[in-house]
Order: sequence, then C-alpha cells, then structure tokens
Amino acid sequence: MTATTYHLTSYGCQMNKLDSELVESKLQQRGYRPAADEAAAQVVLINTCSVRQHAEDRVWSKLGKLRLRKKEEPGLVVGVLGCMAQEHRRYLLSRMPHVDLVVGPSAFGDIDATVAAAIARNQELVSSREPARTKHQVVGASMLAVDQGVSGDTIFRDVRVRPHRSQAFVSVMRGCNMPCSYCIVPTTRGDEVSRPVASIVEECQRLCDDGVTEITLLGQTVNAYGRDLTGQNASLAVLLRALHEIPALRRLAFITSHPNFLSPDLVAAIAELPKVARYLHLPAQSGSNAVLKAMRRGYTVERYLARLEQLRERAPDVELHSDFIVGYPGETVADFQATVDLVRRVGFAQSYVFQYSPRPGTAAAELPDDVPRAEKERRNQELLAVQGELTLAKNQALVGQVVEVLVEGDSKVDGRYSGRTAHHRLVHFPTQDRELIGTYVPVRVTAALAHSCLGELLGHDAHQEGRLDRAEVHT
Ligand code: SAH
Ligand code: SF4
Ligand code: F3S
Repeated sequence: MTATTYHLTSYGCQMNKLDSELVESKLQQRGYRPAADEAAAQVVLINTCSVRQHAEDRVWSKLGKLRLRKKEEPGLVVGVLGCMAQEHRRYLLSRMPHVDLVVGPSAFGDIDATVAAAIARNQELVSSREPARTKHQVVGASMLAVDQGVSGDTIFRDVRVRPHRSQAFVSVMRGCNMPCSYCIVPTTRGDEVSRPVASIVEECQRLCDDGVTEITLLGQTVNAYGRDLTGQNASLAVLLRALHEIPALRRLAFITSHPNFLSPDLVAAIAELPKVARYLHLPAQSGSNAVLKAMRRGYTVERYLARLEQLRERAPDVELHSDFIVGYPGETVADFQATVDLVRRVGFAQSYVFQYSPRPGTAAAELPDDVPRAEKERRNQELLAVQGELTLAKNQALVGQVVEVLVEGDSKVDGRYSGRTAHHRLVHFPTQDRELIGTYVPVRVTAALAHSCLGELLGHDAHQEGRLDRAEVHT
C-alpha cells in the first residue's frame, strides 16, 4: 500500500511555523509523506492565525474551496489547526461539516493519532456509502481535540524536520500574559508557560549535534522568559549565557521582545556575548503616549527610548526592528505623526506595519473602529515609506563592506544565492555552488536594494584559512 500523503499550509507567526514542523515530524514518524501539492494530498491541514481579520479571511476562503473538493472526494481529510481552531472551534465543528479535525495550538502532541482516526473514519464512511451529510456530522462531533493545557516538552520535535540544515527555531515559552487591548494571542495561545532551562539547552545541543549553527529562540514575549519559573534562576539572560557555551553554535537570536522586559541583565548578555545576533525585535506599536496607554502596552515613548539608550550604551552595534499598528481606535493625525517621529528618531532597520483590525472578544473591539479604512491605508503607506528610506540608507551604508553571511539557499534574484548577516540583513550574491548552503562566507556588498543588498562572494578559502583579516569582516 502506498503511504498516505498530506499537505500542510501555515499562516501566522514563527511559532506557527515551528508548530508546523512539529506536526510534520509527527506525521512522518507515522509513515505519512508530503504530497507533491495540495490537490494531490489525501490529508489537507491548515495551521491558522487569528491575529488580524485578513489572516482569517484567507483560511475561510480556502475552507470554502475545500468544501467543494470534498464533494468529489469524500475520503479527503480536512484539518484546521492552530489559533483559529482555538478561537472558532464551535463554529468549525457545528457549521463546517467538511472539516474533520479542529486542533488548537497546545494539542499537537498526538496530532498523528488524531489524523489517523479521521482517515479511518472517513474510509469507513466512504466504503459504507453513507451520504456525505451524515458522515460529516459524525466526524465533526467526535474529533474535537482542542486543549488549553501545555506540557513544555510536547514541543520537542524530531531535530531533522526543519527547513534549513544549519538553522533552527526553538520555542522557549508558550502563551502570553500581557494585557494588550487589541490582541487575540493570549486567548488563542493561553497563559505564559516557560520551559525549563535544562530542557531548552538539551534541545539546542541536539540540534547543534545535527548540524545547526544558528538558533532563534521563540516566545511572544521572549525576554519575559522564565518569570513563571519561580526560584529556578531562569531568565533570557541566563539562557543566552548557557546556550553560548555550546561550541558548535555560532549565532543565537531571539524574537519577539517586549520593551517592558529589556532588563539590565539582558542588555549585559547582548553586549557581552559575541554569538548573540546583532538585532533586537522590540515592537513599539505606536509613538503616541495616548495610544500606548489605550493599547495597555505598559510603557511611554520616553520609557521606551530610555531603555534603548541603555542598550545603545552597552551594545551600539545592535540594530532595532519594530512592529507598528496604525489606525488604532481614536488614533489622531497627531498621534500618527508621533509614530512617524519615533521611527525616524530611533532609526529602525526594519518595521512591520499593520492596520488595526478589531478582534472580537478583545478590549479594543468594544471601541468604535473609527479610523476609516482609506485613512488606515494612507498611514500604513506613509509609515512604510519612512521606514523604507531608513532601511535603504542602512543598506547603502553597507556598500563596499565585507559581511559574513550564513548562506540559506537560492535567492529570488536570478542566478544568486542569499543569506543573512548577524544583523539579519539579507544579501544576494552570484554563485551556483550548492555546497555553500549552511556555511558562513564573506561577501562584499556591491549595491543596496530596498529590502536587501547585492554582493559578491570573496574567496571563501581565504576566509576559512583565516587569511581574511577578522577586523575587515562586518558581521
Ligand atoms: N508578541 C509580539 C507580537 C504579537 S502579534 C509582541 O508583543 O510584539 C504580531 C504583531 O501583530 C504585533 O506586534 C502587532 O503589531 C500586530 N497586531 C496584533 N494584534 C493586532 C490587531 N488586532 N490589529 C492589527 N495588528 C495587530
Ligand atoms: Fe499580543 Fe501584547 Fe502578548 Fe504581544 S505582548 S502577543 S501584542 S498580548
Ligand atoms: Fe497568529 Fe496565533 Fe501567531 S494568532 S500571530 S499564529 S500566535
């Protein structure tokens, strides 16, 4: 018998991507194989995101198409995983009979068994030639596997299932306890739960034994890591210092940090540990104190800037990345201008800009969504343009310099490969040498693009033999 084939699409943040790796790992351990494409798959899974309406709309539309497909292929197994499964479980189970499984983000530990049960049920129903409606009702009602509970080690995965040989994401905590008024994540992901330091170190060691040299630690408020592990001396700073000892590890990054937890200990760790990546994702969300207060972010612009000052004193080479929401309820033109001013003042290397999207059940959803759509769009474009200037200027400043790039693979620019610097800058350079993937090479930057740089590979033999002067390499 040929192996059952699956197709998994992921939306949302890096945590979802990592969860998808876990799910794939489990399915493959059971003998299932990835299908060539979704249309050929016997099991279609969607790992979903609820953070904005747009993210959900894409999934509803996909589910509409799968409903039609299932009419032709009654044995098809359709699964909704992740944040929408948690948020909309009742609707998915009662109103979407073609959905066979609904699995929240904390219940992936036995996803393979859940999928196997759905396959068996559908096969039984197909062979007994039940009418589709009866079949779906039975499946829908009995396949609920939503679980708010968390076991730190359910996130342990087969270390070989990851997109890049030399790079890995590692989840250090799940959930979020922050009160941000607009955000659905605490509802979909539940309470903050940190994994013990030893368990994370063990996983990272296993990954490095398997060829990983760059690890990115993940948490919604990754720098609040450990605050629930009372009496265990667990913090992000402690964790970074422990992981820094792994000899094969060369780069250690972490996302996403919350401004309230940028502690002196963490600043010291960033400043002192050379393997720690030279960028910090520290979303400001807004540059207006009135909006920050309404958002319940817990800091003012002045406090945000003061924290950055401490970081810059100790680690001036660290570049800053941010997220911003434009069009929050009540955001005036002056509030928005304050955000533009903050972006210019800090000189972020990169920012994600989102138009406010009311999420049912959050505190902000009670407020009138009073910034018109066209105005949100205008603010979005203006902020992106300001950030674009800053990013381009930073890329231009790199022209002529030699940077150390971890080669990731084929680039979107023809005939080139791409990789990232320790500052997370994307660099494309011409080569056809697949052997370079996963290695660190010196590249001279020759031109700046809007979101990346072009460069030329320098004789990496020279680099490996240490003939290239370290001081010349801007890492
Ligand atoms: N935990 C991270 C990010 C969480 S979600 C943090 O606190 O920074 C990623 C980003 O989505 C957020 O930083 C925010 O900018 C944006 N976001 C969250 N909820 C949103 C909403 N309702 N509308 C628009 N953007 C939102
Ligand atoms: Fe959402 Fe705020 Fe938590 Fe980030 S810190 S996930 S924005 S509630
Ligand atoms: Fe989206 Fe859930 Fe991540 S809502 S942003 S996938 S935590």
